[in-house]
Parts: sequence; C-alpha cells; structure tokens
Amino acid sequence: MSVKSVIRGVGAALPKRRVDNAELAAQVDTSDEWIVERTGIRSRYIAGEGETTGTLAADACRQALARAGIAAADIDLIVLATATPDQTFPSTATKVQAMLGIPDAIAFDVQAVCSGFLYALSVADSMLRGGNARRALVIGAETFSRILDWEDRATCVLFGDGAGAVVLEAEDGGERGILATRLHADGRHNEMLYVDGGPSTTGTVGKLRMKGREVFRHAVVNLHDVLGEVLEAADLSVADVDWVVPHQANARIIDATARKLGLSADRVVLTVDRHANTSAASVPLALEVAVQDGRIKPGDIVVLEAMGGGFTWGAAALRF
Ligand code: UT7
Repeated sequence: MSVKSVIRGVGAALPKRRVDNAELAAQVDTSDEWIVERTGIRSRYIAGEGETTGTLAADACRQALARAGIAAADIDLIVLATATPDQTFPSTATKVQAMLGIPDAIAFDVQAVCSGFLYALSVADSMLRGGNARRALVIGAETFSRILDWEDRATCVLFGDGAGAVVLEAEDGGERGILATRLHADGRHNEMLYVDGGPSTTGTVGKLRMKGREVFRHAVVNLHDVLGEVLEAADLSVADVDWVVPHQANARIIDATARKLGLSADRVVLTVDRHANTSAASVPLALEVAVQDGRIKPGDIVVLEAMGGGFTWGAAALRF
C-alpha cells in the first residue's frame, strides 16, 4: 500500500509588533507608495524582546497540534527550516522539542533560506514514506529583522518575522497527502542574496545583502519551471490546481509567475501585503491564512512554491 504524508493541522505565530510602511518611512528614506508599488507590501511584524525564531516556532506548533487534535508527545520528527536560528547550535528544532515537552523525536534544522519550508516538507515527506517516523512537525520560522541592515532601504523594507507549522502524518492507501515535491539549487548565484557574516568566516552574525533585480529575474523563470515539473510529477495540469500558495517575496513576482503559467490570480494566495517576506515562514504562514478563512478545503489540490538565497527553489503538490 502506498503511504502518503497528510497535513492534519496548520498553525501560525506572528510577533506582537506590527510595523506599517509609514512607520518605516519615518526611519529610512522610503515611502509607502514606493514599497506598495514595487512589492505589494503594506506591513510586517517585527520580533521584540523575548520573541525569537524558537518561541515563534513553538507557538505555531502548539496551534497546529491543537487544530490537528494530536498530542505533542505523539510527534516523532521535527524538521525546522530557518536561516535565523536562535543559536549557531544546537538546532532550533531541538529547542522547539524541549519547549513542547516532546521526550523523544528526530529533530534537526534545514537551511535553504526562503525555500526552506519546501526543503523541510520534502525531507519530512521522504522520512514518513520511508517509515522513519509517523507524525512530523514541519516548521518555517524566521526573525529576519535581526539580520537586516536598517540603513539599507533596498532590503530593510522587504522582510518581516514569523513562523508557520504543519502537522504531517503518514497515512496508508488514502487519496489525500503530498503527491510530489521537486527541489533545486544553483550555488553559482551565492552572491546574489547572502549574509555577510558567519561563524566560520567573520565570527559575526552578519547582515543580509541582495541584488534584488537579479533575484527577481531568476525567481520568475525558476518558479515557473519548477511548478511545471511538480505538476507533471503529480500527473496534474494547471487546470486541476485549486490553490497556489507561493513564497511571499513580492506581489509582482507572484503575478508574473502565475501569468506565465496561465493561472488566474484568484487561485493564488497572497499575504505579502500583511506579512512581507518572512523567508522560510512565508509559505506556511500563507497556507494557514487560506485554510483558516475557508478558501483551502480538504480534498483541494494545492501547490506550494518558493525560491531564495543559494539560489534554492522548490515546489510541492498535494491533495489537502
Ligand atoms: O525571498 C527571496 C527572494 N527575494 C526576492 O524575491 C526579491 C526580489 N527582488 C525584488 O522584489 C525587487 O527587485 C525589489 C523590490 C527588491 C526592488 O524592486 P525593483 O523594481 O527591482 O527596484 P530597483 O532595485 O531596480 O530600484 C529602483 C529604484 C532605485 O533608484 P534609481 O537607481 O532608479 O534612482 C533604488 O535606489 O528604487 C530605489 N529604491 C528605493 N526607493 C524608495 C530601492 N529601495 C527603495 C526604497 N524606497 N525602499
């Protein structure tokens, strides 16, 4: 019998403090008009004291577990995607494990920047289908505000903090679950989007640097291609797709990708206006919004996609 990984519950957590474009424009040389027109972003959430990638992740997991009706103790795999861990080590996944009081599990972080949730989902899906675990927490969690150069208007207005999580359970012989995933990386483009520090180089955390225009160009092409690949692998056509939940970096990238694929905008979940780019958290945060407001229903065909630093990119097709 074929085993599929089924999403049982979705949870989200955002920092308390919401920052709109006007508040940013009072600090850096930018404007609400520029940010909305170029990106679609209207506000973002910024972590305050005591709010970390780990605490946000744990809150998102608690909500996902409660909605799934599954106890934390029944989780045997935790895969957490982040580029902004609480510490260089141990993994934030093990910190979440401790915060949730899970006595024993496989727990590790995945580093694929904005594509991290797709990488984490794909790894967890493989492990569930391979019989290594039965119930997983797959998390995307970030506090990018802590690696932003707040004097660089070209980047600091684009990002926000938050966490999203799904509870994934192995099910034998059902219709629902992950149908296909596809992942890619091309390290020749490291310098397009990176952090200028690290434990083994500068010994510092560093700040985010990005060549935005180049990233934009690659994003539309790579996302279009990987969406085509994942649909083919799942034996689906664009017409079968009920919802696309894209990485929320820029509304213009999302629009251009949908248009190139021939997908109507009313089947695309857009939350970049309220969350900004939350890197690995963006896809599960958007998924949570569309599940909670009733757009995404059990049985729907949903496609997730993301692209980020590395470059890395990927997509997943599932029957929700
Ligand atoms: O999540 C990982 C992947 N990341 C992305 O997908 C981001 C991809 N890139 C983008 O979303 C866009 O390239 C940006 C939003 C980053 C920039 O938009 P753009 O339309 O490519 O603008 P640009 O970089 O070409 O800059 C246009 C102008 C420049 O001025 P000049 O040289 O034309 O005089 C910038 O200096 O806009 C200026 N500018 C700003 N002006 C006001 C850049 N940032 C700002 C700002 N406020 N915050």
